[in-house]
Amino acid sequence: MLTQSIYALAIYSLICSRAALAALPAAPARHRNLIFMVSDGFGIAGETMARGYIQSTHNYPLEWASTLDDLLVGTSRTRSSDSLVTDSAAGATAFSCAQKTYNGAIGVSHDRKPCGTVLEAAKQAGYLTGIVSTARITHATPGSFAAHVVHRDMEELIAQHMISYNSSLTPAPTVDLMFGGGRCFFAPETPNPAAGNPTSSCRSDQLDLWQFAQKNYGYSTISTRSQFDEILAADKKLPLLGLFTNSHMSYEIDRDPAEEPSLTEMTQKALDMLHAASTVPRGNSTAGAPGFFIMIEGARIDMAAHDNDPASHLHDIIEYWNAVAAVRKFIDTHPDTLMIGTSDHETGGLTIGYDPEYVWYPNILTPVKSSAEVICKEIRPLSKDHTKLVSAVVNKVLPKQLGITNATHEEINDIVDGAGGSAKACKHAVGHVVSDRARLGWTTGGHTGVDVGLYAYGAGSGTIRGNKDNTHVGQLLADFLNVNPETITPLLAHQTTVQEGFDANTVDLNSGKPGSV
Ligand SMILES: *[C@@H]1O[C@H](CO)[C@@H](O)[C@H](O)[C@H]1NC(C)=O
Ligand SMILES: *[C@@H]1O[C@H](CO)[C@@H](O)[C@H](O)[C@H]1NC(C)=O
Ligand SMILES: *[C@@H]1O[C@H](CO)[C@@H](O)[C@H](O)[C@H]1NC(C)=O
Ligand SMILES: [Zn+2]
Repeated sequence: MLTQSIYALAIYSLICSRAALAALPAAPARHRNLIFMVSDGFGIAGETMARGYIQSTHNYPLEWASTLDDLLVGTSRTRSSDSLVTDSAAGATAFSCAQKTYNGAIGVSHDRKPCGTVLEAAKQAGYLTGIVSTARITHATPGSFAAHVVHRDMEELIAQHMISYNSSLTPAPTVDLMFGGGRCFFAPETPNPAAGNPTSSCRSDQLDLWQFAQKNYGYSTISTRSQFDEILAADKKLPLLGLFTNSHMSYEIDRDPAEEPSLTEMTQKALDMLHAASTVPRGNSTAGAPGFFIMIEGARIDMAAHDNDPASHLHDIIEYWNAVAAVRKFIDTHPDTLMIGTSDHETGGLTIGYDPEYVWYPNILTPVKSSAEVICKEIRPLSKDHTKLVSAVVNKVLPKQLGITNATHEEINDIVDGAGGSAKACKHAVGHVVSDRARLGWTTGGHTGVDVGLYAYGAGSGTIRGNKDNTHVGQLLADFLNVNPETITPLLAHQTTVQEGFDANTVDLNSGKPGSV
């Protein structure tokens, strides 16, 4: 108790004297670690849905609480500088740079200039740094912590920034550990498997960033489950780039554990490795790094909500809970660590119950075995052959993948019609059949502007409470580490923020394109 209140006091005085601190060289007071958890697109209704599902299917008592329920300290506002409804790029930049910016902006301010991030400032102050995400590591949330581009779709340039290609920041590389998906942005347009680079490319040039990371910075590069298992924290082998899928990692409901590690496994390994490496003595000093900063994202909670797919949303939320539980366990044995968790925004406008009855049926989600994404990848190609499509929907999708054995004609027709439309139309058709049965409602396939939960645990968490702006959450991160991202901004003045050859016609460069995730 006493130790806790000393921490609380220390944090309080840090926050209060921030203006004075800004003038000092960034120097952490003492050993500390900061774990920032982002549940992308996760709202309060998602928490209620997942809690209700677990209580109902396990017969847990009324007072049962999820790991997150226990850590709730407040709420966060989510709007961006140009809209009351943010996208993930502006949402993450509010956390990383502690600044409001426009939808679509990755680590750049409202006037499109690079802004220093808390991760970059932490690295400069000697901390080790990490990023874990179940999305492509070049996606909006992870990108906003170590890249600076004027539009989120410039993922080729984001990949360059993530591994400090042509970076003006020292020490380089900026990110010591990355786990996630998105290998294809690190492979040249013509990949060369013999050279050890990934076999599928999303690039339009011949840059081999996989090899660049190895050769210039000594990154260990891993891409398989077995390589992941072989890496030991005790080896203290950083920097490390582990990308396990070409694009996003699988939804938890679809994930093959023999192929891809889970968010929780990546979280545990990242914490162990960063902690072990931070104890290695540096230079002439017997002390190691002052600690570490890591951003961990449950990214696909958002994407499932975009798809209005309740079972995939549910399973990614539960996996995020597991990752938070692993973080709690780490903090219980490393009390010099703070976890702050929040969402960038809510997605889907998920709600529980709709006219006319006062009910929802959690059990409907139990037999669902595949995401709408996987189902639609299978059935959309069949839409040219109506008989085959109907047969797949009636014999496989409904009974085997969704667990619905008494489907109505209307339900069958909805999915068949959806399969003949866009990917989104198909996924919504599948998601709505399940949601309607469960009595879950969605207002949109995009984001909403509601406040989201704010969660904290560990050192200094006692002083965080109430309703915060998302930029204030970013400020809390910087304050805890005793760093100032603004000191990094001038060092980024010459950073290229526009991807060469980027086809500006495909997106509206003045805002996040409609439907951006
Ligand atoms: C970027 O870095 C690469 C590799 O170090 C170097 O060959 C190239 O000249 C640099 N480009 C610019 C624009 O600095
Ligand atoms: C380590 O000590 C040497 C010799 O005293 C000195 O030249 C060097 O700058 C020191 N390095 C660091 C990182 O302090
Ligand atoms: C399907 O069967 C379940 C379980 O017997 C039942 O509760 C539900 O009302 C049935 N739905 C339809 C549309 O027949
Ligand atoms: Zn989204």
